Amino acid sequence: MAQDQTATFERHIHEQQLSQRSQAGGELTWLLSGIVLACKIIGEQVRRLGLTNQTGSAGSTNVHGEEQQSLDIYSNQVLLECLGSRGNVGILASEENEDPIVVFDNRDDGEYVVVFDPLDGSSNIDVNVSVGTIFSIYRRPESNGGSTHSEVLQPGTQQLAAGYCLYGSSTVMVYTTGDGVNGFTLDPTIGTFLLSHPNMKMPARGNIYSVNESYADSFPPYCRRYLHWLKSAEDDSLYRSRYIGSLVADFHRTLLKGGVFLYPPTSFYPEGKLRLMYEASPIAMLAEQAGGIATTGEESVLSIVPKNLHQRVPLFVGSPFEMQRLQTFIQNPLKV
Ligand code: AHG
Ligand code: MN
Ligand code: MN
Repeated sequence: MAQDQTATFERHIHEQQLSQRSQAGGELTWLLSGIVLACKIIGEQVRRLGLTNQTGSAGSTNVHGEEQQSLDIYSNQVLLECLGSRGNVGILASEENEDPIVVFDNRDDGEYVVVFDPLDGSSNIDVNVSVGTIFSIYRRPESNGGSTHSEVLQPGTQQLAAGYCLYGSSTVMVYTTGDGVNGFTLDPTIGTFLLSHPNMKMPARGNIYSVNESYADSFPPYCRRYLHWLKSAEDDSLYRSRYIGSLVADFHRTLLKGGVFLYPPTSFYPEGKLRLMYEASPIAMLAEQAGGIATTGEESVLSIVPKNLHQRVPLFVGSPFEMQRLQTFIQNPLKV
């Protein structure tokens, strides 16, 4: 099928804004095009990594005490510059910055808040395994006289848009503004993201589960029993295990093929490892917009009001069949 080279990401956003008759007009479109620019720049660096000095550790640690990779810092800088210069972003918040960055003091000058994980899957950078960028966009609340943090700490249900860019065998941008999920593949010959996955829907059921099983002994009992169910063939639905270690890549596969991704509480991360604001919430919005389900095991991810920018939560996300089965293990903790 000859690709329609006019079916660009920018055109899609514009048409969605028109169809939603959203009051955002071209503002959100302009903001999203800033994210597209940043992801193109980051993607180019990812593609050439072995030839540049962006590999390896930056010799610094982030707010989580995690060793920062050079590409984490580079990607963060690219997003801060591309979004900080959009002219309509009031606050930026990143995994790599302890506190939010105020671009405009006056809310009227910058009505959007953008929260992002500039490079997700850092441990995979140097071994040429897919990594990604995750973003989440909120409207800056009317000046409530509160702190900058209070303007950022909004539940996932308030997201205006969410998405990710996956730097894999191809570079794919997947996003939602609350009206379904669409995917775009970068055509490097013209440097443009073209519509390749229209109206993405997560399969009602899959046959893949994705979890880091090395922590299984410290998972909660319900989770261990759920994992046992996934591994025991039942009504010929034998599940395969796939775990990449980059949330964006593991989720993208789950979105396309169905099944379940889980990052449960562990002894090392009793609250879960993944961060609510720039990993779990955007992923949860995409999952639910595509017909999937995303919970912490106790509540819907999207309903959580963040306590702090870097709050961690457990994440279970996937197809309705596997997620409803998980619920039965949670509700009957003693039943084997
Ligand atoms: P980041 O590179 O942004 O810190 O995210 C890494 C996350 C996520 O991408 C992935 O699902 C998870 O860490 C993998 O954790 P484990 O290595 O503990 O499995
Ligand atoms: Mn991440
Ligand atoms: Mn990261």
